[in-house]
Amino acid sequence: MKRVYNFSAGPAVLPVSVLERARDEMLDYRGSGMSVMEMSHRSKEYMAIIAQSEALLRQLMGIGDDYAVLFLQGGASLQFTMIPMNLITDPATQSADYVMTGSWSEKAFAEAKKIFSDVRVAATTKSVNYCRIPTQAELTLNPNAAYVHITSNNTIFGTEYQEIPDTGSVPLIADASSNILSRSVDVSRYGMIYAGAQKNLGPSGVTVVIVRKDLLGRKANLPAMLDYQVQAKDGSMYNTPPTYAIYILGLVLEWVKEQGGVAVIEQRNVAKANKLYDAIDASGFYLCPTEKASRSRMNVPFTIAKAELTDPFLAGAKAAGLVTLKGHRSVGGMRASIYNAMPEEGVDALIAFMREFERVNG
Ligand SMILES: Cc1ncc(COP(=O)(O)O)c(C=O)c1O
Repeated sequence: MKRVYNFSAGPAVLPVSVLERARDEMLDYRGSGMSVMEMSHRSKEYMAIIAQSEALLRQLMGIGDDYAVLFLQGGASLQFTMIPMNLITDPATQSADYVMTGSWSEKAFAEAKKIFSDVRVAATTKSVNYCRIPTQAELTLNPNAAYVHITSNNTIFGTEYQEIPDTGSVPLIADASSNILSRSVDVSRYGMIYAGAQKNLGPSGVTVVIVRKDLLGRKANLPAMLDYQVQAKDGSMYNTPPTYAIYILGLVLEWVKEQGGVAVIEQRNVAKANKLYDAIDASGFYLCPTEKASRSRMNVPFTIAKAELTDPFLAGAKAAGLVTLKGHRSVGGMRASIYNAMPEEGVDALIAFMREFERVNG
């Protein structure tokens, strides 16, 4: 068996110890005589798994009792629809503000517009190809908005909020799909945080929603599956939840705890990202399109000044066991996603390859 360093933007690298544990428990989960995949979601064993996953997430992120933690399906993308459906209660007087920082914000905005045509853009950096996050001064916020929506890390463009915006009494909602659990956050500053699991939390198929309880039940007669209140009341078991994905998520959370928690993971992420950005900036051969103050610790886009060397770079990297480095088509070049589970050795191996490639081709 040969494992590669996988720089995929998602689904993405998972800790090896988590995969080994899942393998060991595959046929007989802790004496139950069956796989978690075969278990009723109402069984005692499974109820313990989902309760433990929630408890660990609450502990690791410091989530207070005034927030519900939901494990939903439909990906982060379904949240683009559920948020306006659940939270814009009076379309005649209320709108919602969207801060546009990339493709995912655009998608969130486009879906919200289908629910309420009056949703607003509070700021955008599209004119500079989303190479930075807007400053607080650039935001034109509506004090009557139902919420302000941000994408806390922009997976495609490689930017990330270093400070979250001040939205006064308007609830702040963050799509944290690509940086949840990568840095400490003060959950109490948010109305809601949501994330598809397939980057820092586990496999695809489960979406974590952390929502302040006073935002639940604001709208009557929503379709049950799309109603946060129903999902909260039923403990994410209104229907059959993605049982196996939640189990793996729980194992990933245990791994984060074993590492020393989010603060330790954050330090490692800072070190990994700094190393890679420093290597890019120190060379005239590689370029990073993002502004320094907005750079993501999770997704590092870079190009080669001689664009014709992009394909040879990717082929050479793959041959060296460094895979899924192709940049998104809207940005081009390369993108190294270095989520929590990417070991520092993976970043070192990438930097060593980059230096050698530059030496030969520079
Ligand atoms: C920031 C962000 N938001 C939303 C999504 C969409 O997530 P999903 O595929 O779970 O719907 C992604 C996927 O890569 C993402 O990176």
